[in-house]
Amino acid sequence: MTPQPSSDRRIQNLFPFALASLLILGTARVFLDNLKNNQQKFSRQFERHRTVRLPIIVSDEEVIEEGCNVFEGQWVWDNLSYPLYTEESCPYLVKQVTCRRNGRPDSFYQNWRWQPHGCKLPRFNALKLLEILRDKRLMFVGDSVQRSMFDSLVCLVQSVIPDGKKSLQKIPPRKIFRAEDFNASIEFYWAPFVVESNSDHATNHTVLRRMVNLDSIANHGRQWEGADILVFESYVWWMYEPLINATYKAPHTVQEYNVTTAYRLALETWANWVEASINPDTQKVFFMSTSPTHLWSWEWKAGSDGNCFGESRPIQRPYWGSGSNLDIMGIVKDLLGHVKVDVRLLNITQLSEYRKDGHTSIYGERKGKLLTTEQRSDPKTYADCIHWCLPGVPDTWNEIFYALMLQDYRRL
Ligand SMILES: *[C@@H]1O[C@H](CO)[C@@H](O)[C@H](O)[C@H]1NC(C)=O
Ligand SMILES: *[C@@H]1O[C@H](CO)[C@@H](O)[C@H](O)[C@H]1NC(C)=O
Ligand SMILES: *[C@@H]1O[C@H](CO)[C@@H](O)[C@H](O)[C@H]1NC(C)=O
Ligand SMILES: *[C@@H]1O[C@H](CO)[C@@H](O)[C@H](O)[C@H]1NC(C)=O
Ligand SMILES: *[C@@H]1O[C@H](CO)[C@@H](O)[C@H](O)[C@H]1NC(C)=O
Ligand SMILES: *[C@@H]1O[C@H](CO)[C@@H](O)[C@H](O)[C@H]1NC(C)=O
Repeated sequence: MTPQPSSDRRIQNLFPFALASLLILGTARVFLDNLKNNQQKFSRQFERHRTVRLPIIVSDEEVIEEGCNVFEGQWVWDNLSYPLYTEESCPYLVKQVTCRRNGRPDSFYQNWRWQPHGCKLPRFNALKLLEILRDKRLMFVGDSVQRSMFDSLVCLVQSVIPDGKKSLQKIPPRKIFRAEDFNASIEFYWAPFVVESNSDHATNHTVLRRMVNLDSIANHGRQWEGADILVFESYVWWMYEPLINATYKAPHTVQEYNVTTAYRLALETWANWVEASINPDTQKVFFMSTSPTHLWSWEWKAGSDGNCFGESRPIQRPYWGSGSNLDIMGIVKDLLGHVKVDVRLLNITQLSEYRKDGHTSIYGERKGKLLTTEQRSDPKTYADCIHWCLPGVPDTWNEIFYALMLQDYRRL
């Protein structure tokens, strides 16, 4: 083996721990989640809504101005409008993400609004989104980061639906939220590599002996086919080591592949599936860019030697950390440019890069349990700088997703 440059070695040393927390955050968590059934206030607006199908009116103000790149902008303090929901108001939030309830002393991370340069994001309207999703299935596919986008969207819409008219089911590898009167479902499907792998089992999976089948997707694909809107994501599980065991073309021959090469082959398999299986007239497909990690504080604070722990403010200047792999971003961009079906990129990497303050840090879980006092006193080892608190950054991903969905409606 040739020696790696030192920064690479850091990546090798640090990603494994960070990933260890991912193992038990997969759908495994699903079984441990204890749903509280909070009494919901009955919404009169909803009562009217469910009996009458209202036309979806997208006002001029809700339309993103031509030429505005919603992914470029800055975070502005807005404690009047944010957060859009609270830990208390959303009964479906899992313990992993409720940072405040888990002891995080500050709540500033809940009060930032994403402000694109040159236009405004439309205000999130849960009833409007549910009307758009009427008689439809929206499915998020990916790892636990993607699952937090699912969790966030469920929280964003659930408050307008009365008890008894909404449900959350766990049918591994899926998690399914239903809004009965809209005949709409929002689902999460666990597939951390998008293609098939030995980590697909909902509860029994490990990053340590990953083995990815770079050209296998048919079994997953069969479960995705009925979805009207699909949002894919896959990143952090690839990044454990520079090499990854995989099969390709020969199902019984396992070889080590460079992660970059393997990722490209996997996404090609995915792109072929999209072309063969998606009907662009009736289905929509999105792909999420990489969710950044904040594992090394020296990247934003020269001379420091920590991680995301203790950070309480976003970065307010140009910033790009080494946690967002440019080769991987490049592969995604390249492939989306070639795939013959319109797949839209949710390019959330840059806006999330600024949010070193948004991670669960020591206020999340490890192996299904909150950190012990002892572990909390050692944030350098135990802080989780991959996952995000909710309410928090994934809400913004959904606000942008919502804005794009509205845009489509307007065009019809
Ligand atoms: C909102 O932020 C402003 C400015 O930091 C502060 O003065 C005010 O007390 C905050 N309001 C609430 C409700 O937290
Ligand atoms: C409910 O939605 C599904 C798609 O998710 C659709 O196939 C079905 O026809 C809908 N049911 C009714 C009664 O509209
Ligand atoms: C988990 O998977 C491994 C290897 O795939 C297997 O040996 C083990 O028995 C499984 N454990 C459980 C509890 O199913
Ligand atoms: C993997 O491939 C990329 C792109 O070809 C290259 O830059 C990188 O050095 C390779 N890594 C290893 C560990 O071989
Ligand atoms: C690939 O699998 C072999 C055999 O199990 C193992 O020795 C090797 O360390 C694995 N490589 C990686 C990158 O995990
Ligand atoms: C995603 O956004 C970043 C930063 O705004 C930009 O540099 C990059 O080119 C974008 N990627 C794609 C594929 O558009």
